[in-house]
Amino acid sequence: MRVVILGSGRGSNAEAILQAQQAGQLGRARVVAVFSDKPDAGVLSLGPRFGVPASYIDPAPFKTKLEGEGEARFIAAVRAAQPDLVVLAGFMRVIKPGFLEAFAGKIINLHPSLLPSFPGLDGIGQAFRRGVKVAGCTVHGVTAEVDGGPILDQATVRVVSGETLETLAKKIHAAEHALLPAVIARLSAEI
Ligand code: GAR
Repeated sequence: MRVVILGSGRGSNAEAILQAQQAGQLGRARVVAVFSDKPDAGVLSLGPRFGVPASYIDPAPFKTKLEGEGEARFIAAVRAAQPDLVVLAGFMRVIKPGFLEAFAGKIINLHPSLLPSFPGLDGIGQAFRRGVKVAGCTVHGVTAEVDGGPILDQATVRVVSGETLETLAKKIHAAEHALLPAVIARLSAEI
């Protein structure tokens, strides 16, 4: 199963996927390319470290969504990698119908809350401020509804007394690093 990862940030989840692959824990999945919409994103430094092609793609003209010329550039680059699965691992742009249709049924996203609670930006902060006692993360199929596609799996963490936003974020990120590679391995057994 050929996997393409899209990320905008430090890339700790992409790293967890590549580490799982190195450890033989990614089933029949193999990461074939990493792409970012940010030229200086940490996720791109994983390329040389793990021997995977990693490149920046100009997302212009929009700031928060992938549409128009930027979308066309992403579609062309991702298509050239011939993915069976496209993993959004901290890709902070709204995906529009053009990209969705190009990779229909093949796109999954990681979100740092127990969806359908706390979709959108800052899922961890939203949950923390609401005072939930159980938080977590979700991997779901991507549809036109932001953070609204079918839930593939979730992991929970308890919010303990004295928890701070920072300690909660650490726990949720650790849960993400286990959940996302496990879902990819499971999907690789199903195709
Ligand atoms: C992760 O916590 C992921 O759940 C979140 O961005 C972070 C990326 O971290 N994604 C979203 O909020 C998507 N709405 P990383 O760059 O270290 O993998």
